[in-house]
Amino acid sequence: MTTRRSFLSRLLHILGITAIAPILYAISAVMYPPLAGKRQRAATLILDNPDEVFSSLNYSIVKVGDKDAIVFQKADKSYEAMSLQCTHAGCSLEWKDSSQQFLCGCHGGAFHRDGSVAVPPPTRPLEHLTVRAENGRITIIDKPVNG
Ligand code: FES
Repeated sequence: MTTRRSFLSRLLHILGITAIAPILYAISAVMYPPLAGKRQRAATLILDNPDEVFSSLNYSIVKVGDKDAIVFQKADKSYEAMSLQCTHAGCSLEWKDSSQQFLCGCHGGAFHRDGSVAVPPPTRPLEHLTVRAENGRITIIDKPVNG
């Protein structure tokens, strides 16, 4: 049975936690930016046997966290990854190997292979993601190259 005293005690306890929650969140945001949804998310993808993955095409579409991304294997066997999210209003892009362009079905925007804008309305280039390649594996991190 809940007494008035224990009820008040519980209520004060809940209110106390509620009052300090924003402070704890602010501290965690400073100490752990990934937890606060900042730019560097901990989404990492590891592709085993990249030579097998890139044997027929020089690119692969991958999921990095909740984002679609494209990874190109360049002639020198290094890798380049870009977000497949249009910088105009966030629609998904489609890579057209035949025209070497990214096309956006929402408003007709397009991007060149290097991520620069080919056809407006987008004004900003595609986001390049960080790629680490070592020991025959590549890791794509949802973090801008220069972020
Ligand atoms: S969202 Fe891609 S052109 Fe508008």
